Amino acid sequence: MQATQEPAVKSCPPCECRVVQFLESSIGKKITVALAGLLLSFFLITHLAGNLFLFFGAKAFDGYAGMLERNPLIPAAEVGLLALFLIHIALALRARLINAAARPVGYAAYEGKGARTLGSRTIAVSGLLILAFLIIHLKSFRFIPHETRENDLYRVVAETLRQPLYAAFYVVAMLGLGLHLSHGVQSALQTLGVNHPRYTPALKVLGLAFALLIALGFASIPVYFAFLNGGAR
Ligand code: HEM
Repeated sequence: MQATQEPAVKSCPPCECRVVQFLESSIGKKITVALAGLLLSFFLITHLAGNLFLFFGAKAFDGYAGMLERNPLIPAAEVGLLALFLIHIALALRARLINAAARPVGYAAYEGKGARTLGSRTIAVSGLLILAFLIIHLKSFRFIPHETRENDLYRVVAETLRQPLYAAFYVVAMLGLGLHLSHGVQSALQTLGVNHPRYTPALKVLGLAFALLIALGFASIPVYFAFLNGGAR
């Protein structure tokens, strides 16, 4: 009887399998969450820069918004942005749930409290707050008629953010965003290997400064409209 022969070279798993294996591994999830988070931070910079046109009145902001709306590349960028949000949220939550199941006693029993900041302890809660904010935010400003987005967006933003309760919710959500970024940015850089005894302290300060700038920058907009009588009524 003939013995079955082992193939000389083991065939490597197909590409999709390697991607799945990578995303199933704990480090794969961490790296992907970190990369998506950093890319989302770039979006925040451009989004804040665009929103600052609100301080220059309806003509300036509607001119900017109309230009975006007519840009043929924007739909593809929006799909990419949605994918980044979904990947970041889904993998971060999955990693969190797997960790919680593996450590039912809770973090405090395992880690020195000194290393944990308010931002790191509240990262999941601030993430969920941002998710709730995003749903309300997109419903108010994104999923409205195309005509309005192209020609009359300033009026919609101003009327919405002049409502004190709405504005207060925005400010609270931006505090959550600041907390999230205060831990998220430096943690993402560390995960991606940007870690050196000489530069890490400076990167931590830069991460905190970035979080503060983004949170205060966005929060200044509802404060301007609702509490400082901003824009012509
Ligand atoms: C006061 C703060 C903010 C204001 C006034 C604001 C304003 C706007 C406006 C007017 C739009 C619609 C743009 C368009 O359709 O052309 C928009 C879209 C959007 N905003 Fe904001 N935003 C703020 C904060 C944020 C924050 C903090 C995030 C993320 C955490 C965010 C995420 C988004 C996303 C994902 C879209 C959809 C982008 C797209 O589809 O092109 N926004 N925002």
